[in-house]
Amino acid sequence: MFSGRSVKSGHEDAFLLESVIDEKTEAVCDAGKGSENMKILNTPLKVGSLELKTRLVMPPMATEKTADGLVNGDILRYYDEKTRSGGLGLVVTEHVYVSPEGKASPRQISAAGDDAVEGFKKLAGVIHRNGVPVILQINHAGSMTQADPETEKISCSAVINPRFAARGIRILPRAMDIEDIERVRDCYVKAAVRAKAAGMDGVEVHSAHGYLLNQFYSPLTNLREDEYTGATVEGRTRLQCEIIKAIREVCGKDFLISVRLGAADHMPGGSEAGDVPEAAERFQKAGADMISITGGLCGFILKDREQGWFSELSEAAKAGTELPVLLTGGITDAYHAEKLLEEKKADLIGIGRALLTDSELPAKMIKE
Ligand SMILES: Cc1cc2nc3c(=O)[nH]c(=O)nc-3n(C[C@H](O)[C@H](O)[C@H](O)COP(=O)(O)O)c2cc1C
Repeated sequence: MFSGRSVKSGHEDAFLLESVIDEKTEAVCDAGKGSENMKILNTPLKVGSLELKTRLVMPPMATEKTADGLVNGDILRYYDEKTRSGGLGLVVTEHVYVSPEGKASPRQISAAGDDAVEGFKKLAGVIHRNGVPVILQINHAGSMTQADPETEKISCSAVINPRFAARGIRILPRAMDIEDIERVRDCYVKAAVRAKAAGMDGVEVHSAHGYLLNQFYSPLTNLREDEYTGATVEGRTRLQCEIIKAIREVCGKDFLISVRLGAADHMPGGSEAGDVPEAAERFQKAGADMISITGGLCGFILKDREQGWFSELSEAAKAGTELPVLLTGGITDAYHAEKLLEEKKADLIGIGRALLTDSELPAKMIKE
């Protein structure tokens, strides 16, 4: 520092100028130093019984790389590449189907049979070897299934799915009765048991992007009048809570359970931010360890927004629960990720498509 020093000669002027430049250069360098400036991104976080090394998460992204539903070499190589460089605190795998009638797409991975366990073991092994914990995202597509045409389509109510309808696909599902609900709940639990048997650290229950549990959550698709009623948040979250409780009972307290909540439909009459605190509180009471926030029937993309598209919704989730909240959507750099954490919009940040483009991005973000 030069404070208090008077400038007496040209030489000293030059010296002063150079020092000012040095100070400025230092300031610029400091602004880019990840380990000092990306403070929260680099801070470990306890989620359930796991200690995550960083706040960056690989969110679920379907690879569509299997023809027979089983994990194969292509899938293992892909997850190895995404986790090898470091920087990630957690991986949430792509969604896997819990029963054949709930298959979302022809090349989706299956968790519907015990033959899935061997592949899941290898998948967990690859990701663990790179020092990252992994949870399996489990899903039933409900009225958004692309199962064989002969397979009966089911949903909470006989309503054409608005997300499919927007793509010109109009399938009228049969409304599930209580036996269907119990059977599907059981399929989620069996899938979680398979994940645990394979050495995965937990599961994520998919209740977003228009799939079955989102169909229960959205007042646009849930027209039920029984205890799963679409008229209250309690009814709209009952099945998710039953699934969480049942998985907790069978898989134990150290098995991480996350819920991915499609927190708002962004459609008239759909789910909205005001519902989120109560939903989050209910998931916590049911035994969840973490809440992941994304879109509902609108899907996972919202255009013309700042990075962290669903940040109002993740903030709403934080208002209802002490559980760690993960926010994903449009985040591509360390500055915005850190800012969202600093502003307490979320505790964890998902990096999806940007990680597809650059496998080393998380490592760069925390070192930057
Ligand atoms: C190719 C692709 C596949 C996806 N598959 C899933 C999925 O299986 N489950 C899920 O919950 N979200 C899925 N998503 C949504 C992502 O998890 C994420 O929410 C979305 O890409 C927005 O985040 P981003 O802007 O960081 O990419 C998928 C997204 C992409 C691009």
